[in-house]
Amino acid sequence: MKRLIYLSSAVRLVTPDELAQILAVARRNNRLDGVTGLLLYHDGTFLQLLEGEDVAVDRVFARIAANPLHRGIQSLPPAQVSERLFANWTMAFARADTLLGDGDLGAKAFEAVKQDLARIERLDKRAAIFVRTFFASFRDLGSLSGD
Ligand SMILES: Cc1cc2nc3c(=O)[nH]c(=O)nc-3n(C[C@H](O)[C@H](O)[C@H](O)COP(=O)(O)O)c2cc1C
Repeated sequence: MKRLIYLSSAVRLVTPDELAQILAVARRNNRLDGVTGLLLYHDGTFLQLLEGEDVAVDRVFARIAANPLHRGIQSLPPAQVSERLFANWTMAFARADTLLGDGDLGAKAFEAVKQDLARIERLDKRAAIFVRTFFASFRDLGSLSGD
């Protein structure tokens, strides 16, 4: 099984509707493909973690990489893993800008990731560093860094 993590930049500000659309497509496709993971979005930056069988992850990632909504994809070399970090999440999703809002689909997940950082760290140090870096790169997310 493969775990792949990348960061990318949206080519423009993404609307909440577009994010919801991406999430809906991701959830539907990834369930069919047996792919789980995490998608974070804040202020023009995406972080996504995908895990599943090698061919399935490759297929999903090829579709994602081809999406013109984002560019500058920087991924860690994929890791072979025996256990999923997000087994129960068919694409958890977090939009930090809703964190203080009305608790829509994103806000809870974002908080959950923060609560989950110690576990992520134990299972995959590289993944934890990536997630921490995402939080740390936004000053307004400083309180979410888990430190
Ligand atoms: C940041 C980002 C993350 C995405 N994540 C997924 C994903 O996890 N799974 C997925 O099937 N599509 C994802 N998509 C959407 C794909 O790029 C693509 O639009 C979708 O898979 C439909 O592909 P198709 O038009 O070739 O059928 C994502 C798009 C973006 C911009």
